[in-house]
Amino acid sequence: MSNTKARPNPYLCYQISRMSKPIEGFSKLTKAEKINWVAETHGESPSEFKATLDTYNHSDPEIQKIHDEFIENTLTNHYLPLGVAPNFLIDGKWYTIPMAIEESSVVAAASKAAKFWSNRGGFKTEILGTEKVGQIHLNYHGSAKKLNDFFNDNKLKFLNDLSSITESMERRGGGIKNLQLISKTTALDGYYQIDLRFETADAMGANFINTCLETLAKSFTNAASSVFEADELPEVVMSILSNYVPNCVVRASVSAPVDQLGADLSEAQLYAKKFVRAVAIAREEPYRAVTHNKGIMNGVDAVVIATGNDFRAVEAGVHAYAAKDGKYRSLSQAKIENDTFHFYLDIPLALGTVGGLTSLHPLVKRSLEILDKPSAKELMRIVAVAGLAQNFAAINSLVTTGIQKGHMKMHLLNLLSALGATEAEKQTISKQFNEQIVTNSAVKEALTKLRNDR
Ligand code: MEV
Repeated sequence: MSNTKARPNPYLCYQISRMSKPIEGFSKLTKAEKINWVAETHGESPSEFKATLDTYNHSDPEIQKIHDEFIENTLTNHYLPLGVAPNFLIDGKWYTIPMAIEESSVVAAASKAAKFWSNRGGFKTEILGTEKVGQIHLNYHGSAKKLNDFFNDNKLKFLNDLSSITESMERRGGGIKNLQLISKTTALDGYYQIDLRFETADAMGANFINTCLETLAKSFTNAASSVFEADELPEVVMSILSNYVPNCVVRASVSAPVDQLGADLSEAQLYAKKFVRAVAIAREEPYRAVTHNKGIMNGVDAVVIATGNDFRAVEAGVHAYAAKDGKYRSLSQAKIENDTFHFYLDIPLALGTVGGLTSLHPLVKRSLEILDKPSAKELMRIVAVAGLAQNFAAINSLVTTGIQKGHMKMHLLNLLSALGATEAEKQTISKQFNEQIVTNSAVKEALTKLRNDR
């Protein structure tokens, strides 16, 4: 049916001409050799390419070494701006929140929302749970009763075998809180799992959980080999934590009498109703819910990254949680009750303030210092508030001026920077664009005109 004769892919021509075969032993090259190879193979101008990498490489070799060692094949550093949003009143305490993010308007919007709510009682939070989950996935086709009996007979021994690993976590108030064998055979033939529940104190806990799981899996296999025949031996398929943490959840909320939300009562009522409606739409309409939650994650990820936490884990867990009842919904909810406006967010957050990058990355240490070295629970509260504030700011703009106004102000400055405008030129042109729509060509034209008119 199909023509099997190989046809050249026009999109690959450039690549083929520069890199005709895979490179062997790349990881064994020195950093300088790796940079050379990438620059020569992929750089349009190898010398300029190398100069850019060099600019972003830290001049202090000791500091650069820290970053080089985070990953493999490091060439240089990829910078993100680290900013702060001050004036967050959370549970009666003032915070300055560090945010690492490239998107313009996010920090400004957070700061604005912080100020707005600090005049209305501030943000309140509640930890709804801190439980984390790990699973050992099993393949077993023998008698379910035999597997159950074996598991129950050995449960204490399995826990005992883990004691050297769990000891120090238990001293910090964490450890394994439950383990059970679960049959999943109705979903998948022969599929069982050992489900473990953990508390990990101030650590995010990924290493702790995965070490426990892999050690338990070994004890399980060893013990099983003396009970089961070789052809019915339960097989460990894999052991890994779950980034779905529906019982590691924090609630952040704000509320205020409706009449405090506008210049006069009728404006305030109109605004509050429209706001609540916008959130209701995001609860029911998945296309809107995804963008709505993206706005929440603008705030969440920025703090998660600044504090050295794993934003991929947080993102994966958050979106699974948003779809927990079978439909993707907004994470936040809003209502008006007894003339009071309520806006709140429930969000699963597995975070750590010890271990991992928190003790390695110098800026992460500083970010935690800005937050007065919070516990993991306190960080959950702060991150959830950053998400709610961001969500508030976005919906506030959407139901009033639209978001382009604020975005375009920052976009204009970015365009002007890219065009090499001076600070004075930026100021003059910004005024000009107060009423004019920002496009690349209009900005270019305005800058050229300004320079020609001088
Ligand atoms: C942009 O980064 C985020 C928003 O789209 C969020 C939203 O629509 O709620 C403004």
